[in-house]
Amino acid sequence: MAGSVPVARSLQDIYTDDALASQTKRWAALVSRFESIYGHAPEFVARSPGRVNIIGEHIDYSLYAVLPMAITADVLLAVSVDSFLSTKSTYRIQIANVQDAKFPAHEFDIPHDAVEIDATVHEWTNYFKSGLRGALELLRKKHGADFKPKGMRILMDGTVPAGGGLSSSAAFVSASALAVMTANGEHVVDKTELTELAIVSERAVGVNSGGMDQSASVFSERGSALFVSFTPTLKARPVHFPKTNPELTFLIAQSFVTADKFVTGPIHYNLRVVECSLAAAYLNAVLNPPGTRLPADAAPLGISLHGFHETYFALTEHATKASSSKPVPEQLRELISLTENALTKQEGYTREEIAAVLNITVDELNSQFTSRFPVRADRFKLRQRALHVFSEALRVLQFMELLEDPAHHPEAGSDTSAYNAKLGTLLNETQDSCRDVYECSCPEIDDLVTIARKAGSYGSRLTGAGWGGCSVHLVPADKVAAVREAWEREYYSKLGLTDEQKEAAVVVSKPGSGSALYLVKEGNLS
Ligand code: ATP
Ligand code: GLA
Ligand code: MG
Repeated sequence: MAGSVPVARSLQDIYTDDALASQTKRWAALVSRFESIYGHAPEFVARSPGRVNIIGEHIDYSLYAVLPMAITADVLLAVSVDSFLSTKSTYRIQIANVQDAKFPAHEFDIPHDAVEIDATVHEWTNYFKSGLRGALELLRKKHGADFKPKGMRILMDGTVPAGGGLSSSAAFVSASALAVMTANGEHVVDKTELTELAIVSERAVGVNSGGMDQSASVFSERGSALFVSFTPTLKARPVHFPKTNPELTFLIAQSFVTADKFVTGPIHYNLRVVECSLAAAYLNAVLNPPGTRLPADAAPLGISLHGFHETYFALTEHATKASSSKPVPEQLRELISLTENALTKQEGYTREEIAAVLNITVDELNSQFTSRFPVRADRFKLRQRALHVFSEALRVLQFMELLEDPAHHPEAGSDTSAYNAKLGTLLNETQDSCRDVYECSCPEIDDLVTIARKAGSYGSRLTGAGWGGCSVHLVPADKVAAVREAWEREYYSKLGLTDEQKEAAVVVSKPGSGSALYLVKEGNLS
């Protein structure tokens, strides 16, 4: 699936037929609003979608593979290139948003050599700047250190709910980086390069995220989910669901609890990244031979549970002169049992306890693990976090085996309820682990999940970072109405939602296409 970001020739290349009428209207409104703000038509639109994660939650930053898919909701950036806005030492970026009350317009004169991002304030344009910074780093690698960026005028329209677990942030950063590359004359943008730079640059906003969202946004193809693996290098490939009877539908249900990862990072998301990295270091110290160093890898803090996993088996196989490697699912089961014995403290570990095992000082621990993204915790729950990661990595492989191994496929035309239920059980196990072991669910998501399961969902769980946001449900087509009604009766009717919110509360998710570029010819979208 490598290759370059496609240039769409019509909106049909981007959206499915059922979305075309409303998208055509939306794009036309974007172009005409651009014209009324800036006095001329945009030259192109950079587009990147949000995503829903099917399975593989909170394991991407430990470098284990995940299975998301793109959704129809997306970020559009209409752009014109305006070199005359540049001076000798700066270039100008003007950026506005169709939701201007919530996201006010800004103008920046940016020095040629550096993009300042103040991660201590939560400012929507930081996401653009992080895409800009990443794209410029790549352009400088290609064209030399004195590359001079072009000025740009931008109008954004995003339909992915912000903080809703569907990754509006990665859609925004990926679209921004694509827009900057294009504005600066890169006519062919490599998908892997774009994704890698979007992954690293999004961290500049203050959330130490993994690489699932940007990969799903850039690489997805219409009609298929996406298997994303992060080692030895970033790879993504389409995955198809076999035909089932009853047919399977993915429903996405919002909890309307906004999970602001930027604000809660120190006690939620960023803390989990620290806990997983510390767990990797701790397991390495107690299970590998003294002096073993974990390999530096692409994880946010430079070491990962996956890195520990590989090191551990490489060393044991070498020591036992094993002629072949154990299958990965078997390795993961072994790691689960090793973790249960090596990390016994349910209440968590203090910095002093961890530093002593790692044979470093508390100051060294802080500087290595908690200095770039501060966290607030007295104890780190290494046992629970490692157990979630290893068991979730195993569930992804089991889910993939059900999807891709013909030996598991149900007979064509037969009733496939038992097969569907197996897929659903894995999703339910993910939810249980997220709620009880990783502690990233919330009571509202738990309610949506319970209601859906009672009304006929095979599998229901939170999707994305959690602590609010969205949930995803694998529902037989003939139970979709019943599940929707149950939510309305038992959950949504109690929230006092606006008509617009009611409309957006539940969507049937069809796998959508990934990033694309659209060249606007003389203001025309045809
Ligand atoms: P998750 O990461 O859990 O999947 P998410 O990506 O939607 O969910 P965040 O990572 O917290 O949530 O990113 C949300 C932020 O992205 C918003 O606070 C805002 O700054 C920015 N953003 C998202 N959509 C828009 C938009 N349409 N216009 C401007 N800024 C937006
Ligand atoms: C957020 C992050 C992703 C991933 C998920 C949890 O969406 O941006 O990298 O870690 O949470 O699976
Ligand atoms: Mg996000």
